[in-house]
Amino acid sequence: MDVHSYARPAEARVTSVALDLLADFDRTRLAGTATLSIDRAPDARSIVLDTRDLTIHRVTDAAGHPLAHTLGAINALIGSPLEIDLPAGTGTIVVHYETSPGASALQWLTPEQTAGRGHPFLYSQGQAILTRSWIPTQDSPGIRQTYAARIVVPGALRAVMSAEALTPAGIEVPKGRAFEFRLNYAVPPYLFALAVGDLAFRELGPRSGVYAEPATIDAAAFEFADVERMMTAAESLLGAYRWGRYDLLVLPPSFPFGGMENPLLTFATPTVLAGDRSLVSLVAHELAHSWSGNLVTNATWSDFWLNEGVTTYVEHRIMEALYGTEHADMLAVLARRELLEEIDRLGGPQSRDTVLHVDLRGRDPDDGATRIPYDKGAALMTLLEHTVGRQRFDAFLKAYFDRFAFTSIETATFLDFLRTALLSDPAVPQATSAQLRLHEWVFEPGLPGNAVEPRSTRLDRVTAAARACIESGTPAQDTATWTTQEWLHFLNMLPERLSAPQLASLDETFAFTSRGNSEVLFAWLRIAIRHHYLAALPALERFLSRQGRRKFLRPLYEDLMATDWGRADAVRIYAQARPGYHAVVTGTLDPIVRA
Ligand code: BES
Ligand code: ZN
Repeated sequence: MDVHSYARPAEARVTSVALDLLADFDRTRLAGTATLSIDRAPDARSIVLDTRDLTIHRVTDAAGHPLAHTLGAINALIGSPLEIDLPAGTGTIVVHYETSPGASALQWLTPEQTAGRGHPFLYSQGQAILTRSWIPTQDSPGIRQTYAARIVVPGALRAVMSAEALTPAGIEVPKGRAFEFRLNYAVPPYLFALAVGDLAFRELGPRSGVYAEPATIDAAAFEFADVERMMTAAESLLGAYRWGRYDLLVLPPSFPFGGMENPLLTFATPTVLAGDRSLVSLVAHELAHSWSGNLVTNATWSDFWLNEGVTTYVEHRIMEALYGTEHADMLAVLARRELLEEIDRLGGPQSRDTVLHVDLRGRDPDDGATRIPYDKGAALMTLLEHTVGRQRFDAFLKAYFDRFAFTSIETATFLDFLRTALLSDPAVPQATSAQLRLHEWVFEPGLPGNAVEPRSTRLDRVTAAARACIESGTPAQDTATWTTQEWLHFLNMLPERLSAPQLASLDETFAFTSRGNSEVLFAWLRIAIRHHYLAALPALERFLSRQGRRKFLRPLYEDLMATDWGRADAVRIYAQARPGYHAVVTGTLDPIVRA
């Protein structure tokens, strides 16, 4: 039962969606038809779809005969149900509709809001329950659907989707250029995705490549050069990559997430283009979703940890395979710190918000998208690996993806399979199950005491360097060879309170304020705000204005709003930057940044 959908799939369910849409940049609307194939119980009298802010012009059957329908009142959380009568025998319905300019899944960017500043841009973001604002369908992760699309865009632009491109160069039509797509695998509708813009393409490997604005394509192709090796590593861990191609799309700077695992086409923020490939764990993460998430999907948003926890674990394994255990250990230590900070932020280890299987009744699934499903979920996987041994755990993972490929499952199904396929193996001691404390891990708050503690000798050295640097003014050694992860740890290890001269000297020595690496700059800016370090204010304002990633924006605005000196700046910067932010970001920030 998905509390975030109006659908009643036992009566009638959508099995495939065919879109025929015009991307109208002048009216900032998509307009056209969605043709739905449905699977119905013989006595079903109607089908219920999810919608949000759609204008429904008419609904017909395949022959064009009108079908009676009612659009219910809007619920702020989940939108409006569209109930359509199903005469006996009707298996196809055609919805004529258009989206609203404020559609929460769509961001329409003016040319000034793109990297190249020459052309407008449009992209969609479906997860978690936004797809209903651009496609009238049953928007539940448990209702898998195939899709096809024909998208007409202005002549100078190119359309890409999370599907096989049937007409890569497009076809000239009176209103511009038409692009056709098809995805023959049934996926949850949150994975339907579209982007339209001035896009260049660069091949990265035999089955992979990257799309980006021409202004960004060189940097993108450099940053993501290892993607084929990542695919090979993932395949040897999890089994064949089943989707054909794996491409990346670098979005304009306002993209609100780090990455989004749209099938065949990961969407990624330009803030990972560090110039030294130091933030490519994001690619490992989104690629891992090709198994955990896209092949085996959370059936409801309460099971989100199955998507993100398994993915984060696999991400670490891919990074280890490519860059070695030393590097992976650093990532694990940094992730653990983030998890502990997140538990604090959510109210401490007793808070129900720190439970893996989270109760989302009456809540936005977005509320569950904290570090908990990611890092606590991954910590559970690591515990399982350490408990039964890597070999046995890897065999379990492969079996899991084979067993549940192309299905959506609940937490209970995962736990059952874990017990039957892994824990009841005669080679696994019986006591193991009890030692794992699985129930506590999945249904109780906090991080259980049997979590494996990550360790990194390289970061231990950085800890020592940070102490020496602060306590005795000894300049840190070997920083020339430090990676992004070492710098992040160094910043994490600085004392809560630094004096003004200490801060200025750190900045003078290490030039943090002028760093181009988004993660390092972010960590430094938080320290700067905490210390009222005004020299970093212009850099902070630039960072808040020039990218729209929620992970960076929320803490920085929150930190500023918590000061007496920074509130007015936060309000001023927000007022200026807000039109460029995505709706999911303004949804988060509006309640935080108030005059
Ligand atoms: N699927 C998520 C993004 C997401 C989650 C979007 C929930 C909407 C609702 C994606 O795989 C992800 O986890 N992205 C991370 C980056 C990743 C490297 C941890 C992000 O965007 O921060
Ligand atoms: Zn993810």
